[in-house]
Amino acid sequence: MIDSFGRKIDYLRLSVTKRCNLNCVYCKESESSKADELTPDQIERLVKVFASLGFKKVRLTGGEPLIREDIAEIARRVKAIDGVEKLVLTTNAVRLKEMAKPLKEAGVSAVNISLDTTDEAEYKAITGADCLKKVFEGIDEAEKVGLSPLRINSVLIKGKNEKRAGDLIELARNKKIDVRFIELMPFTDEGKDEAKIVSGEEILSSFPFLKPCENKKATAFEKSVARYYEAEGFKGKIGFITPVSHNFCSECNRIRLLSDGKLRLCLGNELQIDLMPFIDNEKALKEEIEKAVLKKPMSHSFACGYGGFHGMNNIGG
Ligand code: 5AD
Repeated sequence: MIDSFGRKIDYLRLSVTKRCNLNCVYCKESESSKADELTPDQIERLVKVFASLGFKKVRLTGGEPLIREDIAEIARRVKAIDGVEKLVLTTNAVRLKEMAKPLKEAGVSAVNISLDTTDEAEYKAITGADCLKKVFEGIDEAEKVGLSPLRINSVLIKGKNEKRAGDLIELARNKKIDVRFIELMPFTDEGKDEAKIVSGEEILSSFPFLKPCENKKATAFEKSVARYYEAEGFKGKIGFITPVSHNFCSECNRIRLLSDGKLRLCLGNELQIDLMPFIDNEKALKEEIEKAVLKKPMSHSFACGYGGFHGMNNIGG
């Protein structure tokens, strides 16, 4: 679909739950209720309509998608839909060791892993949990079963893990893993404190051995959300996602379906449209989605909105 600013919108980020097994400082206290979660049937019905409107790529997000017991079934059903060419997933990797293989078999091709530090004490301070070892086991398993590209998403926060950039970059040396730094966005009190943001440029200036990649777009599907750099002798690339310092809204190709059936048009704008009243009527669903996409804002409002954004746990990044 083309939106009212001429952007081609063909990427659906699908949050399957608000629940999470971590409690990261920049996200939001996780919820425990499964009450409003879409069922696999409802997800299938909705994604079929998106696919009929030209959506080609789907990313499963959360909350933490792997805490849903039926996540492999959801993946299998979504990937089987005509028009869904690419299915990927974002996870904290705590359950990835067990789930990498079933997910790959269900049709997931690649995973993004949220990991902000290589240090156990820092990991606990950021996520509230003591499971860094599990995360690394999950990353190894994902590599073993051939989930590719493998990417790590890291958020650096001043006074917490800002000194960890070098260690995170090292993860791309010996393995084909891309490490991407995402600027802190305003979703919790921690995130609303602009003084805690570490900008992409700030990180880059500390690692002069990083050189811009010739081919900045890693795959045909990837719009230029991340700017990629490489280092001699490194197997993976280093990416910078800079929603705050340099937004990439003019390249935005995505919308977000939340775990309760609401359609969120922009990560940094509260406007959302409830699709549940139309869930049993394919024609009405299609019309609602078409109308909604035309309401997608030109740009996020993080710069003027250091105030009222709801938790990331509901939106899936
Ligand atoms: N700022 C920046 N990135 C965030 N993420 C979650 N909350 C924030 C925030 N406040 C990241 C997660 C995940 C990705 C989908 O979004 O680390 O990798």
